[in-house]
Amino acid sequence: MRNIGRTVQSSIYRNGVFGRRPAVPTGADALAEAARRRMTRTGWSYVAGGAGAQRTVDANREAFGRYRIVPRQMVDVGERSLATTLLGRDLPAPVLFGPVGALELAVQHQRAHGGRGAAPRNAEPALARAARDLGLPVVISSQASVPMEDTAAVLGDSPRWFQLYWSSDDAVVESFVARAEASGCEAIVVTLDTHVLGWRTLDLDLGYLPFARAEGIAQYLSDPEFQKLVEARVRGAGGAGAGDGGAGDGGAGAAGTGSARAGAGENRPTLAAVRSLLSMARHHPGPTWRNLRQPYARAAVETFLDIFSRSTLTWTDLAWLRQRTTLPILVKGIQHPDDAHAALDHGANGIIVSNHGGRQIDNAVASLDALAPVVDAVREHPRAHSGTGAGAGTGNGTAVGAGSAVPVLFDSGIRTGADVFTALALGADAVLLGRPWVYGLALAGADGVRSVTEHILAELDITMALAGVSETGRIGRHNLAS
Ligand code: FNR
Repeated sequence: MRNIGRTVQSSIYRNGVFGRRPAVPTGADALAEAARRRMTRTGWSYVAGGAGAQRTVDANREAFGRYRIVPRQMVDVGERSLATTLLGRDLPAPVLFGPVGALELAVQHQRAHGGRGAAPRNAEPALARAARDLGLPVVISSQASVPMEDTAAVLGDSPRWFQLYWSSDDAVVESFVARAEASGCEAIVVTLDTHVLGWRTLDLDLGYLPFARAEGIAQYLSDPEFQKLVEARVRGAGGAGAGDGGAGDGGAGAAGTGSARAGAGENRPTLAAVRSLLSMARHHPGPTWRNLRQPYARAAVETFLDIFSRSTLTWTDLAWLRQRTTLPILVKGIQHPDDAHAALDHGANGIIVSNHGGRQIDNAVASLDALAPVVDAVREHPRAHSGTGAGAGTGNGTAVGAGSAVPVLFDSGIRTGADVFTALALGADAVLLGRPWVYGLALAGADGVRSVTEHILAELDITMALAGVSETGRIGRHNLAS
């Protein structure tokens, strides 16, 4: 992507001459507001919402305001490139599509208004088309709305990683990892910060957990090991719903099981309960009418809620996963330098500094504030000095940029190209985009995802030009006011 800023900017202004405005707003707040107006209330709450009083969501954004970029003049920046190398793979920009579960909620409104082609199962394929056009990797979520194999098919040769929620059932974990390898995923991202679902007040006030309606559990429903558990549950219980056989940790499982049971009609039957049952039947493989008459769809939801996560994991468990894949493992959710060190000590190949977009702990440290200390800890770790060569020096003692031996990625709060610049300056090798592209998807499908991403890349490129930097690998702390 050479000089993408000029290209995107000129195209927008040229279209403006003919009275055409961008399909999705270029400003972050305008984008979110446009999406809010279009999406269903449940969809918006799930995507935009954070934990508790939303203080971490706000803090993630505010933190960017505390780091200021310094303009530099009379530097030859006529030829700029966003290109980088990550885990040995050349990429057009240091940007990935972060894992977002229950993505169908972003297009729920289109279904509600009867829009054809807006079926829930179209969300990930739309993301995949946009990612393929841009050549940027998709991190496929464990909580996707379509099986990973379907997303992989749309991606073709385009890069993809797989994000793993570490289920309490070993066979399911092994199966997910094997399927990810077979689907061409180039890395496994283990998300560590969601073994208990955060206290998400917007969803709680609507009583809405997508998984309790079988939304966002397509990886499980399509998994042979998971299907065995469902089969056993149905056989063992003489029907779904009886017994709590699994190893739920009392977090998401407990809350969700309550919802599922209400939805399944153990309480007084309501319209909502019927809708929930219909949703389960529609999401389950096979014809809806058959699923409605059989216990499997409901048993699958309850099985999922039981096995979703385990809160007993410790660093030593990482060795178990390490033995089960040859792919690089990155751990997502790191906010403390000691956790970064421990992850590397136990076999992780990369770190993702993230607080899950403020969805887990209310009043947590802003993810951006955690970035530099984690980068420094990783660069000091012996593993950062072994293997493939470290990245370009930045002149401030921090190795960043192309080809770092142990990449540090960042997310939570990125809304603009200037934000990406700031994260790279603090030492991130690449960033994951979250809510902004989901809003683009909600507004204009694959075109919306592509436009939002191009806007962010264009602003990154323009920011580089105005800060006197022509390669992303050369962005460093020296570009920020101290
Ligand atoms: C997420 N995130 C997430 N992370 C993950 O590891 N697996 C997942 O399935 C999901 N699902 C998910 C759904 C929705 C609706 C959101 C908004 C987020 C977290 C995501 O990968 C990323 O960490 C945050 O989105 C980053 O924060 P911002 O940039 O969106 O504020």
